[in-house]
Amino acid sequence: MSYTIAGTGYALPKRVVTNGQLSEIVDTSNEWIITRTGIEERRVLTDESLTELALQAAKMAMANAKIKSTEIDLIICATIRSDTITPSLACTIAEHIGCTAPAFDVNAACVGLIYAMEIADSFMASGKAKNVLILTAEAMSKLVDWTDRSTCVLFGDGAGAVVLQPGRSRLACSMQSAANNGSILMPNTEGENSPFNKHKQDKMVVQMDGGEVYKFAVSAFAKRSEEVCAMAGIVPTEIDWILPHQANLRIIDAALKKMGVHKERALTNIHKYGNMSATSIMVLLAEEIERGRFKRGDKLLLVSFGAGLTSGALLIEY
Ligand code: COA
Repeated sequence: MSYTIAGTGYALPKRVVTNGQLSEIVDTSNEWIITRTGIEERRVLTDESLTELALQAAKMAMANAKIKSTEIDLIICATIRSDTITPSLACTIAEHIGCTAPAFDVNAACVGLIYAMEIADSFMASGKAKNVLILTAEAMSKLVDWTDRSTCVLFGDGAGAVVLQPGRSRLACSMQSAANNGSILMPNTEGENSPFNKHKQDKMVVQMDGGEVYKFAVSAFAKRSEEVCAMAGIVPTEIDWILPHQANLRIIDAALKKMGVHKERALTNIHKYGNMSATSIMVLLAEEIERGRFKRGDKLLLVSFGAGLTSGALLIEY
């Protein structure tokens, strides 16, 4: 027994920030950002909190799944940094929706949704949970260095949610962590106020070696995807729809070329939202379900890579 997708939801900040607006803050241009990444604009938190977005997404997913909060047995939230270190965002949402099920956050950066779905699958397979609410919520605008043009143009904020119920959708999953070697780093210097700690602290912002991450991303994307196809006994060209992590259109194109899969199979929303870390694939999945893209039985590949360095692919039958 595994799961089926019973309902999805998403929520985005109201504020749209265009490439043109960024070019007023850092030395960049609309043309550079579009040609190097495919991003045209992103959403950025202003008046809303990340918790409010996650709550909206959770309510939408529960309404679509026609499920009450008291029926949920487990809440997992994929995030790299919620509004509070404790309580976890999963616990905060549990309180808001009136649910007392176990709730915790998972940090696997951009691969967080896939990690969370695998944890949910284990709980469901062992009979410990029947209805699981998974949230993804990221406030990347609070984590980037807005003076660093090589990173601040890439990211955006958003939240998503999915309710899983018993079913037979999960076909195969492959997850990995690889040596980071400093390719993506974000020091946690919040609260470094001990009078005994005399170490000089780094800035608490995303630091990235774009070129190294690009190479890792293309290779991990193709490898994890080919692994899940082999596990499920299919070839990559038999996948109906690919929902890749939305970090860079060039990464998606290069990985698909490596796999011999036509790029029309890949769904994208990077032009509207940029890279929303764990939330990218969740929002994409929810939007595509909303517009009726998939038919029952379609094979969907969720594939992601990110800080850690983490990577993962999940093959499901819709
Ligand atoms: N606007 C204008 N120029 C920029 C720029 C910006 N926003 N950011 C970087 N540049 C400049 C660089 O300074 C460099 O200038 P130089 O040649 O004079 O030194 C030039 O553009 C080329 O930089 P480079 O890093 O080679 O660009 P790229 O084609 O590799 O694209 C990334 C950079 C970051 C878009 C790309 O490497 C990437 O997407 N990497 C993966 C990132 C990722 O996936 N991260 C998240 C993982 S979840």
